[in-house]
Amino acid sequence: MGDLTIRPHQGAGAEILGIDLAAMTDNELNAVKQAYADYGLVFFRDQNLTEQQHINLAQRFGSININRFFSANSQFPEIAMVTKEADQETNIGGGWHTDHSYDQEPAMGSILVARDLPQSGGDTWFVSMYNALDDLSPGLRATLRSLQAVHSAKHVFGSSSEYEDLTEGRVTNKAAADELVDPIHPVIIRHPLSGKEALYVNPGFTRHFLGWTIEESEPLMELLYQKAVAEARICKFQWQPGSIAFWDNRATWHFAQNDYQGQRREMHRITLDGCDLNAA
Ligand code: SIN
Repeated sequence: MGDLTIRPHQGAGAEILGIDLAAMTDNELNAVKQAYADYGLVFFRDQNLTEQQHINLAQRFGSININRFFSANSQFPEIAMVTKEADQETNIGGGWHTDHSYDQEPAMGSILVARDLPQSGGDTWFVSMYNALDDLSPGLRATLRSLQAVHSAKHVFGSSSEYEDLTEGRVTNKAAADELVDPIHPVIIRHPLSGKEALYVNPGFTRHFLGWTIEESEPLMELLYQKAVAEARICKFQWQPGSIAFWDNRATWHFAQNDYQGQRREMHRITLDGCDLNAA
């Protein structure tokens, strides 16, 4: 396995050093899979992947889930474009969320590759949903274990989107969001890879606790959200050319910072299929 090193990050996740992802051996793949299960979030630096190598890499971890709402790369439909042009004001992912919780079988995770970066800014922030449970009392955790929550894509990507003016033409296929049957997921899941408990609600796509109204759900959700993003718990990942982040949607949230007005940022995202979270 050579000199592959795993260095935990402040707040959440770990950086994996000493690996060339384009030529990863099976032993190295197993080590990366183990780190991904342990940390829910791994970073790589100084990689030089072509689009096809990005796809090949993703396929070594699972089957690709083609995003229905973001524009696809013109030559590689497996790659979703996460782009902010210099003259656009809003960005994609500019709030705490986890991808695809609006699906019955939410996506496992995403591999995000930096392609064009601003001079400064444009970091992605991450928090761990294992850590999010740490600050909660045993009593609150017991209550949360008894709850389920309804998630949806309609208010974000559908025809009644609350973010219509924010997407600046980058989101397509509203009908697909309108047609989705809103899924119900446990509020605390048993993570399918690590076996650990993780909080599974998020500000982007969770609407309300099952059997509660949105208004009734809000105070408790807000409390959970505030604790989850306590400053000391945030990993602030600074992108450089060749950087890659590979996160697990069931173990983390992320938030793309929008602090580089007037500059362009282009990221390529491949998302991987997940599984039913009610099983455990
Ligand atoms: C996303 O939410 O997937 C985008 C993250 C980023 O652009 O940093």
